[in-house]
Amino acid sequence: MTTFDAMWSDLRPVGRHPATGGYRRYAWTRTDAALREWFRGEARQRGLDVVPDRAGNTWAWTADPDAAADAGRPGLAMGSHLDSVPDGGAFDGPLGVVSAFAALDLVRARGRSPRRPLGIVCFGDEEGARFGVACAGSRLLTGALDPDRARGLTDDQGTTLAEAMTAAGTDPRPLGRDDEALRRVGTFLELHVEQGRALADVPGDRGAVGVAEGIWPHGRWRLDLRGRADHAGTTRLADRQDPTLPLAAAIQAARTAAQRHGALATVGRLRARPNAVNAIPAEITAWLDARGPAAADVHAVVACVAEAAGSTPVEESWTPATPFDPTLRDRLAAVLAGPDGRPAPVLSTGAGHDAGILSAAGVPTAMLFVRNPTGVSHSPAEHADPADCRAGVAALARAVEHLAC
Ligand code: GLV
Ligand code: MN
Ligand code: MN
Repeated sequence: MTTFDAMWSDLRPVGRHPATGGYRRYAWTRTDAALREWFRGEARQRGLDVVPDRAGNTWAWTADPDAAADAGRPGLAMGSHLDSVPDGGAFDGPLGVVSAFAALDLVRARGRSPRRPLGIVCFGDEEGARFGVACAGSRLLTGALDPDRARGLTDDQGTTLAEAMTAAGTDPRPLGRDDEALRRVGTFLELHVEQGRALADVPGDRGAVGVAEGIWPHGRWRLDLRGRADHAGTTRLADRQDPTLPLAAAIQAARTAAQRHGALATVGRLRARPNAVNAIPAEITAWLDARGPAAADVHAVVACVAEAAGSTPVEESWTPATPFDPTLRDRLAAVLAGPDGRPAPVLSTGAGHDAGILSAAGVPTAMLFVRNPTGVSHSPAEHADPADCRAGVAALARAVEHLAC
């Protein structure tokens, strides 16, 4: 069994829902604690120093990072996240963390000695599934998320992030930008399962691994629609104040506007109160996720939704377009060229990543994508073939040797 396979089978049962086969790995829960413990165990087995930061992320470094950074040789870090969306797939996040450990094993097995420290990171709460803000760990790390706002974020039970962290044994008071942790990262590499079909359409081995061009601008908005609770069987239609009507108009407008602007818009989460089949809702909260090639397109979609709903959506997070470092991108595409000498495929994505947050904060960053034959993600149908996972590890190891050895 390869080290990749061993790690993959250790992680497989953690947070997997028996009925759906999907993963429910939410921040600061017992499942999250088990995943963090797994990460620390893998790091220690490899003799890495485990260093938590002030933002809820865990780093593992090969050498005394202070000494290296002080010597002007900041490290090369790689990694991703272990949390999931509700009933998410096995690959989104964990593939990047497991591949980082496996790539380190490969580099060491080949007897290559890095001339700069190598780090592996597990970012906390990338999906924002519990507290609503995606990439919360990397945003806190870089100062893009205000720690007071973060501490006050609530989950569906009304538990604040600060309370959840405390219950998990982590003091939330130091939460915030961590210059010390950031200073150690000279370059960041995130390997990730592809979340679309761009690589699936590239024939042969060349489609196994691609290099990211950049991330579309994207954001999340909350729509609060108020009505009046009343009886479904006795209230005349004319007398109703029913928030499902503006909701329906908003959802239809999102779809139409997204089509018109070449964007994507999704209302993937709804909360109704009182949430009874035989009562008109008193209140509906809907979350809109909108993304597109240009910020203006995304904002045009949100404006159409606002007009259709008759209510201004509250912006919960916004991430501008994030191009990755073009020099690094082209170098990696060349290093990962196939036997015919053609560079690895380069592709853009609408998915958000911690790599995008680090890149926006000025860290030279690159991403590698591993082919997903279903093209499906945020679902148990997400997949990568074992041979492509091996190609991903080999590509990451080659990138590490190129950049650090
Ligand atoms: C993260 O996966 C996102 O793009 O929402
Ligand atoms: Mn995701
Ligand atoms: Mn991810």
